[in-house]
Amino acid sequence: MALLELQNLHVALAEDGTEIVKGVDLAVSANEVHAVMGPNGSGKSTLAYALMGHPGYEITEGKILFGGEDVTEMGADERAARGLFLAFQYPHAIPGVTVTTFLRAAINALRKARNDGVDDPIKIPEFRKDLMAAMEQLKVPRELASRYLNEGFSGGEKKRVEILQMAMLKPRIAVLDETDSGLDIDALKIVANGVQSLIGPAMGALVITHYQRILNYIEPDFVHVFVDGRIVEEGGPELAHKLEAEGYEAFTPATVGEES
Ligand SMILES: Nc1ncnc2c1ncn2[C@@H]1O[C@H](COP(=O)(O)OP(=O)(O)O)[C@@H](O)[C@H]1O
Ligand SMILES: [Mg+2]
Repeated sequence: MALLELQNLHVALAEDGTEIVKGVDLAVSANEVHAVMGPNGSGKSTLAYALMGHPGYEITEGKILFGGEDVTEMGADERAARGLFLAFQYPHAIPGVTVTTFLRAAINALRKARNDGVDDPIKIPEFRKDLMAAMEQLKVPRELASRYLNEGFSGGEKKRVEILQMAMLKPRIAVLDETDSGLDIDALKIVANGVQSLIGPAMGALVITHYQRILNYIEPDFVHVFVDGRIVEEGGPELAHKLEAEGYEAFTPATVGEES
């Protein structure tokens, strides 16, 4: 059985009930990379937020299973404790909190929330050792660790710190929402290679993207084409290349049956 399973998932905006995600079935296992590719406004971020339990998005039908357990009604912290991780499209700044402090707090919160008998805060030397190893692996410059989180960070620095957070928290499924947006090619390579290096028996990923470009560095096993809240086509990596060459027109409902 897949680690993360979406069954007929419908998601509406909590504020006005508008349905954005209209019945999605998806199964992601560790060691697998799934790409969800769709045009702007198709509901990709809404899907990502609903997966994480964001209160602004309401699951109106269907369910989310994680490790066979129904997590549909669970809050974001409970899902994170089970090993779901979302890298946001627009990371926020936290003034006055350094990257190091933030990461340590995030790890400690997770240790508390996890039901594995380890509740005490991580020891500083152990944390430092983990942090140094992860920074080395992901080629994060040392000076970044002592800066205030995301304050004055470039797009590339923000994404790098997010991937660093991912490496430290060791999720079982990582959801990456437009991780390539705003990155120049060098930053993209570093971030994507960092994610790729974390994929394995311990972690799978759902890579949500408009463009094919990040998939040059994170090779997907499965590609799902997502249009107007639904998966409209599925295939292997070749589907991503087809989309890059031909765009989403062929899948857009408005153009069905139209001559061009
Ligand atoms: N919090 C929100 N408030 C109002 N509209 C929203 C909100 N979140 C998403 N939407 C709307 O839902 C649709 C899908 O948006 P989104 O999930 O961000 O798509 P994508 O990530 O594919 O570009 C858009 O029409 C967007 O305006
Ligand atoms: Mg989006």
